[in-house]
Amino acid sequence: MPVPRYAVFGNPIAHSRSPAIHQMFAAQEGAAIEYERILAEPGRFAESAAAFFAAGGLGANVTVPFKTDACAWADSLSARARAAGAANTLIKQPNGQIHADNTDGLGLVADIRRHFQVALAGKRILLIGAGGAARGVILPLLECRPASLTIANRTAAKARELAETFGASAAEFAELPAAGFDIAINATSGSLSGQVPAIAAKVFTQCELAYDMAYGREPTAFMRFAQNAGAQRSADGLGMLVEQAAESYRLWRGFSPNTAPVLAALRAGEI
Ligand code: ATR
Repeated sequence: MPVPRYAVFGNPIAHSRSPAIHQMFAAQEGAAIEYERILAEPGRFAESAAAFFAAGGLGANVTVPFKTDACAWADSLSARARAAGAANTLIKQPNGQIHADNTDGLGLVADIRRHFQVALAGKRILLIGAGGAARGVILPLLECRPASLTIANRTAAKARELAETFGASAAEFAELPAAGFDIAINATSGSLSGQVPAIAAKVFTQCELAYDMAYGREPTAFMRFAQNAGAQRSADGLGMLVEQAAESYRLWRGFSPNTAPVLAALRAGEI
């Protein structure tokens, strides 16, 4: 039997932790898998993915900047991928067709629930940002039945558009109420370069958890800002990375990995 082949497509991709994460999952399953990084050229995702699956690939993760391309290229889409307009997981089906899913939102919800023991049902959630990263998590957040989901974005019109599409609320940064949210999630790309959205500190005073989808070695600028503003706890997106990977692995192989030791190994710099 050939070793089952998986891959992650992105550009850049050299930094990706996905191979190490998936190899730890495979060790838990007692399975041997191949999992490679594939650097696709801009505009050539479809070609690159088609070649991988034609050569026997069974499944793939997709990261920046190809999630929208993956959605357009796949033969079928899950409801989550359709709503997000983006796919991070491709699955080769027994009939050879490629099915696309999006596990980012599930990863976020699973991380908030499992690692932080914070329930989302009944909570007032603030989602900051209205780009692809935000769009990808809205449906899974709404499925948790929060008391409210408010989308706020520097360019307010984009937040209004997303809110209308999904049946959520939108608010301008300057209008956000003091002590208005239990959970605040930062989905802005500025976070990757240490920029904090221009939101007043008073907004965070009753915040149980300030969650930044970005991650790095140190707490992010958003995490520090929210904690200084009164948020009880803050978290970066490393747990989301592991949880979305676990959900992809489950879709490919029907095995649910234990994410805790994988996250611990990443935090310790062991993988
Ligand atoms: P991604 O796919 O990572 O979400 P994107 O689609 O380019 O990337 O969207 C980037 C998001 O981060 C947008 O919501 C953007 O706000 P604008 O719509 O106003 O551009 C937000 N963003 C980026 N830098 C930001 C900053 N310094 N402050 C606030 N929001 C920022």
